[in-house]
Amino acid sequence: MSGKEAYEKLAEISRKTAYFSAALSLVFWDQRTYMPPEGYRYRGELISTIRGYIHSVWTSDEVGELIRRAEDEELDHVERMNLYWWRRNYEKNKKIPSRLVMDMSRLATRTVEVWKKARREKNFEIVKPLLGEMVELLRKRADALGYGEEPYDALLDDYEPGLTARFVEKIFEPLEREIKRLLDRVRDVEFGEEILHRHFPEDKQIQFNHYLLREIGYDFNRGRLDKTVHPFATRILPHDVRITTRYHEDYLPSGLFGALHEMGHALYNMNLPEEYFGLPVGNPASLSLHESQSRFWENVVGRSLAFWKVYMEDARKYFDSLRDVGVEQFYRAVNAMKPSTIRVEADELTYNLHIILRFRLERALINGQMEVEDVRDAWNETFRQLFGFYPPDDSEGILQDIHWYSGSMGYFPTYALGNLISAQIYFRMNEEMGSIHELILNRRFGDILGWLREKIHRHGSIYMPMELVKMATGKELGYEDFVRYIEEKISNLI
Ligand code: CO
Repeated sequence: MSGKEAYEKLAEISRKTAYFSAALSLVFWDQRTYMPPEGYRYRGELISTIRGYIHSVWTSDEVGELIRRAEDEELDHVERMNLYWWRRNYEKNKKIPSRLVMDMSRLATRTVEVWKKARREKNFEIVKPLLGEMVELLRKRADALGYGEEPYDALLDDYEPGLTARFVEKIFEPLEREIKRLLDRVRDVEFGEEILHRHFPEDKQIQFNHYLLREIGYDFNRGRLDKTVHPFATRILPHDVRITTRYHEDYLPSGLFGALHEMGHALYNMNLPEEYFGLPVGNPASLSLHESQSRFWENVVGRSLAFWKVYMEDARKYFDSLRDVGVEQFYRAVNAMKPSTIRVEADELTYNLHIILRFRLERALINGQMEVEDVRDAWNETFRQLFGFYPPDDSEGILQDIHWYSGSMGYFPTYALGNLISAQIYFRMNEEMGSIHELILNRRFGDILGWLREKIHRHGSIYMPMELVKMATGKELGYEDFVRYIEEKISNLI
């Protein structure tokens, strides 16, 4: 078999397993939306059967041999990148003993259940032993995968190819300083966010979200918007993406900005290069790039004054409770900035502090510089050092996020990097297309989306994530544009 034939065979296997993955995505979507309560029975088996099949294909000797043969061939850039991703995936899967994968999966299921109880009772002690076991397994995983400078790098790389803790800390350290400086500037500002706690009937919120998404260009012939407890976006197939949001009748932003956020993810998914569907390069570049898209639509567009100059009148039509609210007033309210305990409810400015906290602790845990025994106290101390006060209890502290208890360490930094990338996109777009705010005022969302499609979406993962950031925004990833962006906004607000 020639190298070319080996490559073609790999592409065929890749497309085939992509359909199994698509079926799995549909199963997950169903599970989190409309599955009847008893439907969970046999679900675990269904999922592990499909997963097991995909895993066995991609760790087979046949695939290993095909990759070796294809690597001898002269290939173009796209083909080389496909091969790169296949090799990476193959190596990772080979390095991790299947025993460890099974132990992780079982432990995660158990830990999440106990975490729910611990959170209800606001008591970290209940889940602490299991989290200890989890950290042990994650350390084993890092050792099995291997790493350059520190064990934590191995886990970061799982979520964001090529990312290192040293690189992250080099950005987070000055970012922390700048956020604290800006927090001082807004400390005494009145944002009037009480108006967002009025009554907003769920059916009206659903209608308003559908209206806004249509305006922006979310194609309901290729996508859905449903209701869940934990909002998410998923791609089933190139012409079938799904998003969800959650609704609180006494708090508008959850449903509204949740929908805009997930729509950003969905627009990325809808515009990935269709000709590469089923091949690695047809996938999104990385989690941080994905988050940059959601944050861009949620914050840069959705929390801009220009956006509400256009849509405030509509908002007043949908919601009686906003009848007496002006554009500026609404703009201030949705941009309220103040330190708070819960990450998912945090504003644009303080959000990154929540990530910095988690990054430092999980890095220390995985690298063996901290033990689970001490992590709750470390959480509370670090939180106070960043935000200026202690969390009132564990449920508003170390127990608030599912990530660690489900075995995800190394994931959090991608959220903050996404925020930083979205700000770099904002300035680059302004340079290349004139004022974005002008485009929003004229409802030219197609132009904005066109830019994102051209510079980011259509490239799939043909480039490494940080390379793509540099190509799209004209500079390396850094904290400076985010600070400039948020400072601009703060100046508007005070
Ligand atoms: Co997101």
